Amino acid sequence: MAMFDEITKLKEEATDVIGQLNSLENTENFRLKYLSRKGLLAQLFEKMKDIPQEERPAVGKSLNELRGFLQSEFESAQKKIANQKSSTSDKIDLSIPGRKRYIGRKHPINQTLDEIKKIFVGIGFGIADGPEIEDDYHNFGALNFPPDHPARDMQDTFFVKPVLTKEGSDSGKYVLRTHTSNVQIWVMENNKPPVRVIMPGRCYRNEAISARAHCMFHQIEGLYVDKNVSFAELKGTISFFAKELFGTSVKTRFRPSFFPFTEPSAEVDINCFICGGKGCRICKHSGWLEIMGCGMVDPNVFKSVGYDPNVVSGYAFGMGIERLSMLRYGIDDIRLFFENDIRFLNQF
Ligand code: PHE
Repeated sequence: MAMFDEITKLKEEATDVIGQLNSLENTENFRLKYLSRKGLLAQLFEKMKDIPQEERPAVGKSLNELRGFLQSEFESAQKKIANQKSSTSDKIDLSIPGRKRYIGRKHPINQTLDEIKKIFVGIGFGIADGPEIEDDYHNFGALNFPPDHPARDMQDTFFVKPVLTKEGSDSGKYVLRTHTSNVQIWVMENNKPPVRVIMPGRCYRNEAISARAHCMFHQIEGLYVDKNVSFAELKGTISFFAKELFGTSVKTRFRPSFFPFTEPSAEVDINCFICGGKGCRICKHSGWLEIMGCGMVDPNVFKSVGYDPNVVSGYAFGMGIERLSMLRYGIDDIRLFFENDIRFLNQF
């Protein structure tokens, strides 16, 4: 019965190995050792010819069982390993932290603009806007800048070749507007008094770019026209505005100045909140910070829009948003506003 012992021994030995099958490699080795054409199983079958005739059916049955056993164990080990492999490579690693969604915010220029708009809308001003590419007449002529007047030199700009020739335009010259005062003209041309609006927007000047000046910037203009509007109202409105934007303890002062489109004209200063009036680099040791230009609308401007200067009066003001933002946030270089450096913008 040596043959049955051998079959049992092979089965036991193989069973031990089966328990350790965990890779494609050792499963293949198992197949080669037991199941291949020259493997241990085939060697036992080989011995069948030496078995006496009468014992052959029983030994054959036993050998066939062993072959079935080894074959199915081999196949199931193979399947198990293939499954493990695909399930580990497809697995989602839930331990990776989620990607944080970046939530943007308003540009500091727009934040300042929004705040200024809120203050003026709160006291009854509407909002208007106008073109950035402007004809010479609306940017200069109607605002009482005579042709070749030196006041134009203070606002040198970029001249644009007209693409459309505007019917009735006296100069045919187009410029990138140097201030938002052009919108005063559009508003008055298209509306009867009273008008009370603020006009925010982008402006351009032919300036050498430096920490203090840029060829592109933003302004907000104000215009109030009605019967009997006085300089006192202008002062009251501006002082109120300065307190709203910079805090109730801020002081304002009006310095005589010149603009072609206002008469009288003034420059508005607030006391320097950085040094408290002692004098610092920002206020150039004067204790005061200039924040805007203003004045009573010049009668010539009223005439150019068809308003009667004997019936109506009004005031106008204009301020630079970059300058105000630099003061509010303590920014020392105007170029930072337009570089779109996320490390700068993230701070506001
Ligand atoms: N437009 C002037 C400027 O750009 C500012 C201003 C506006 C002054 C309205 C007076 C009245 O400098």
